[in-house]
Amino acid sequence: MSRTIAPSLLSADFGHLADEVRAVIRAGADWLHVDVMDGHFVPNITIGPPIVEAIHEASTVPLDVHLMITDPQKYLPAFVRAGATWVSVHHEVCPKGADVVAQIHALGAKASIALNPETPVSAAADVLPAIDMLLVMSVHPGFGGQAFIPTTIEKIAEAARLRSSMGARFLIEVDGGITTANVEHVAAAGADVIVAGTSVFHADDYAIAIDALRGGGDGTER
Ligand code: DX5
Ligand code: ZN
Repeated sequence: MSRTIAPSLLSADFGHLADEVRAVIRAGADWLHVDVMDGHFVPNITIGPPIVEAIHEASTVPLDVHLMITDPQKYLPAFVRAGATWVSVHHEVCPKGADVVAQIHALGAKASIALNPETPVSAAADVLPAIDMLLVMSVHPGFGGQAFIPTTIEKIAEAARLRSSMGARFLIEVDGGITTANVEHVAAAGADVIVAGTSVFHADDYAIAIDALRGGGDGTER
């Protein structure tokens, strides 16, 4: 299966957000990853539903909204209304994963459960058959530009093994510190969706950066 590349707008120029959205889609982004932080679940604060709505208006691709917030169930309707196609909620704040997955589905969106680096895949085993995607964090959530945590590779492989042993169909997404130096390893381990902030938005040419993450370029030419 070919990789889905989801640039994280966290590293975009927020002063020109609509232009950045159009530019990265023109450059080949399959989805847009939107990082929502509340200053509570993580120490950083980013954006809320009105900005997601503005991104949605400028976008022609699915929005993959990653909620790093303490009370996601309270805000799910607002984010889906704002245009989220995919919604990730953190297992660490949603021990009753089945309820939140059902709520996301009832709102008409695709449901994803996100796991912090220290949360094992087994913690979410019960909910895996019901989800559309498992988000494996490869950095501690909160900030862009952090270094990839190498043990993530084995965690992705474990998620892929569980997926096939239980006959489940969820996608595996990896988020944090992804570069051309590690993308082939995460893809080989079983990641289907690649989130990348710094390595796309800090590149001179977004299209070259996206092609390289897709495995279709060497990072120096189109
Ligand atoms: C981290 C966010 C990531 C981050 C990825 O809390 O969830 O989506 O923006 O950025 P890079 O690719 O720079 O690690
Ligand atoms: Zn994210």
